[in-house]
Amino acid sequence: MRIFNLSFECYPVAKVGGLADVVGALPKYLNKIEGVEASVIMPWYNKPFVHEHSFELVFDGWIHQHNQTFQVMVMKETSNVLGFDLYLVKIPGLLDRDNPYGYWDESQQFLAFQHGVLHWLTAMQIRPDVLHCHDYHTGLVPFMIESCPEFSFLKGVKTIGTIHNGEYQGQMRWDMANYFPWFDGGKWGLLDWNGYINPLASMIKCCHAFNAVSSGYMDELFESFRGLETLVRQEHAKANGIINGIDTEIWDPEIDPFLAFNYGKQDAAAGKLKNKKELCEEYGLNPDLPLFSFIGRFAGEKGADFLPEIVEKSIQETYGALNIIILGSGDKSIENQLAELSYKYSNFAVDLGYKEYLSHKIYASSDFLLMPSRVEPCGLNQMYAMRYGTVPIVRYIGGLRDTVEDISTGGSGINFGEASASATVHAMHRALHIYNQEGLMSQLVQSNMNFDFSWEKSAQKYLDLYNK
Ligand code: ADP
Ligand code: GLC
Repeated sequence: MRIFNLSFECYPVAKVGGLADVVGALPKYLNKIEGVEASVIMPWYNKPFVHEHSFELVFDGWIHQHNQTFQVMVMKETSNVLGFDLYLVKIPGLLDRDNPYGYWDESQQFLAFQHGVLHWLTAMQIRPDVLHCHDYHTGLVPFMIESCPEFSFLKGVKTIGTIHNGEYQGQMRWDMANYFPWFDGGKWGLLDWNGYINPLASMIKCCHAFNAVSSGYMDELFESFRGLETLVRQEHAKANGIINGIDTEIWDPEIDPFLAFNYGKQDAAAGKLKNKKELCEEYGLNPDLPLFSFIGRFAGEKGADFLPEIVEKSIQETYGALNIIILGSGDKSIENQLAELSYKYSNFAVDLGYKEYLSHKIYASSDFLLMPSRVEPCGLNQMYAMRYGTVPIVRYIGGLRDTVEDISTGGSGINFGEASASATVHAMHRALHIYNQEGLMSQLVQSNMNFDFSWEKSAQKYLDLYNK
């Protein structure tokens, strides 16, 4: 079975968040299954990756978008080190930039990518068994295949849509229809949702099957989905929930090259402590205190706006009996508030930026990882934390609910219900109570490290879905 994953992110080429981790791992694990050939197609970015790897030009053609003509080049990565074939689509003027998102013409970029990919496959007569579309950026592919005569060669190819984040749907005004490959105007209903072209809604309407990245989140989408609830209920027969895995070959404290000290289950407590000492020294924190951390985008979904209050409240209420380190960036007002707090409290450090190596060090060094998310379709941080023997403190929603069980019911994490700073701090008090009970903490470290979140199981679930 031949599967093409279409995505705007893929680790290690370009990563903004968990989407990249998933697309960089799922095909690798699918390819370990006999008879499966999974690859990734994504845009070209001016990132170190493209300068450090070699490529072969496999297609050179043209597409037309609203009276303009764009060159489309498809480059295949030739090193074979990723565990899957990787194709980068370069469209000079649109897909040859530094980052995946945030450009004024991004709707046009997303359209050009999808158009360019389908044009290449059609021109070269490449007909995969499955086109797997990730998030709304590639959500118009199922519509285009079925409704644009230009791609009639691909008609009937099975399409799967994965919803990594239903908060973003890619709505655009109807005048953007001019940028689409030609389609019969009678099909407009397959694109429309409440007077806008809605790529995520179109994906749900037109694909053969769709899934959310956890069952918990899929259940939530039936209740509340930024206006698409009625649509998912209508299309429920196509809906699935498949939890993400983690790439245990990359995220492995025994061999992780980013760690100052590698450790395994047998020497976890000592190994974590050595890493913690080094990290605390670097950030001016006290290594004798329990270390709480947060890693992520400073966005409302992540509850990042609670962080300043969480820092102040927890330090004040415990009279400074804990340390907190935060790695992230995003909302400028949150960045500024946290920077100020780091001057005010010696127990608190913040690193504003995106640093892959530092995230690994923090997962390894922390005692507890905080995830006060408002919305969490799956969440990978809690799984990385657990793999590194760190106790997750998570809000009981979406994928967090599916992966972290509270210690009171036999699990090895901490759950809380309300999306607020006080509920998070309340959970931190519980964490301190656990930390101070002799033996309990090392027991939790062990049981967290024993969890199996590897991709094997979930890759099989995707394969079952493709087969269906
Ligand atoms: P989301 O995709 O919603 O941001 P996930 O939990 O699925 O959330 O994945 C986040 C991924 O991004 C993890 O691999 C996490 O370690 C990483 N990450 C987030 N922020 C940063 C940062 N500032 N520096 C390094 N890695 C980060
Ligand atoms: C999204 C979600 C996150 C999920 C990731 C990978 O970014 O916000 O919860 O883990 O996609 O599926």
